[in-house]
Amino acid sequence: MPKTIRRLGVLTGGGDCPGLNAVIRAVTKDAIYHGMEVLGIEDGFLGLIENRIRPLCYDDVSNILTQGGTILGSSNKANPIRFAVGRNPDGTPIFKDVTSDCLRHIEQHGIDALVVIGGDGTMACAAPFIDHGICTVGVPKTIDNDLWGTDLTFGFMTAVQTATDAIDKVHTTAASHHRAMVVEVMGRNAGWIALHAGVASGADVILLPENPFDLDKVCHTVERRGKRGRRFTIICCAEGAYPRDGEKVVERVDPTSPDPIRLGGVSKWLAGAIEARTGVESRYVVLGHVQRGGSPVAEDRVLATLFGDHAMDLLKEGRVNRLVAWQNGRLTDVDLRESAGRQRLVPDGHPIVEAARSVGTDFGD
Ligand code: F6P
Repeated sequence: MPKTIRRLGVLTGGGDCPGLNAVIRAVTKDAIYHGMEVLGIEDGFLGLIENRIRPLCYDDVSNILTQGGTILGSSNKANPIRFAVGRNPDGTPIFKDVTSDCLRHIEQHGIDALVVIGGDGTMACAAPFIDHGICTVGVPKTIDNDLWGTDLTFGFMTAVQTATDAIDKVHTTAASHHRAMVVEVMGRNAGWIALHAGVASGADVILLPENPFDLDKVCHTVERRGKRGRRFTIICCAEGAYPRDGEKVVERVDPTSPDPIRLGGVSKWLAGAIEARTGVESRYVVLGHVQRGGSPVAEDRVLATLFGDHAMDLLKEGRVNRLVAWQNGRLTDVDLRESAGRQRLVPDGHPIVEAARSVGTDFGD
């Protein structure tokens, strides 16, 4: 017999993205309509650890559909089973398992179920709570679109649109100055943003983390285009892309985060290498957190609302410990624990890669 759920706790974890508020709104309005209470947990699992939990009422979630970010705040550092509580004399963090504090706060607030909105790191934080008997439903978010178990995460389409708009702008200045322009997009170890934004903006070269590139080939493309009278080249480069004989460029390491590596900087290196080898003047642009900001595009608002609605259906049907998912063009759900900490990368021979190749896009391979 499924447990009757009267009070929900909702949190948003990991890096923020457009559409989080749309999910909070969908979940909260549906829950209130069905006579449930909703508590907002602030700053992801950090709020559960620190007992920062407040009621969400209808007015709190009214008019937030179009707002970027998250009204609840987020954290990409607070993993309850490995939470940094201080520093050793050598500066390394001291970790402690604070799961029992979280369980105490869940009980204290009478929370019957958790709705965790996040990516692979957030699902990894949530999974141990299922083992402790806490009913949990996951909602897949991330601009990277790399959460295992779902073909689509909300936030991704907005990030792709932002990156595409930026590359379109870079295009005209590259053409005026006859330059090679390297535009670095986010995505961690996955090339989904680079692939989609690169194809959408007609980039001449797309570099994916899944497919280490050959610098000679990239330079050859720049030179070949020059010989054909095309005196500029647009290179859409994922932050995780790296040369065949090199490594990913790490911008910083944060040991307190479930995923400590922050990538960034490959475009600077690549623009320098292209200019040195070909003599073609080159510049780089790192789009960075701009891709995480702003109002969600219409598709993300719709997807986020569908995801929130499906999360509530799961809870009402007592089908808990599931992750809402989008597979083969339809809404479904998978075992949350299976997606915890697992990333979905661009597979070899993906149809968009093949379509791009057929219009002459170079993948540096
Ligand atoms: O996972 C989302 C993401 O924006 C990645 O694309 C990027 O690598 C990372 O987060 C950046 O993290 P932070 O906000 O900690 O700099």
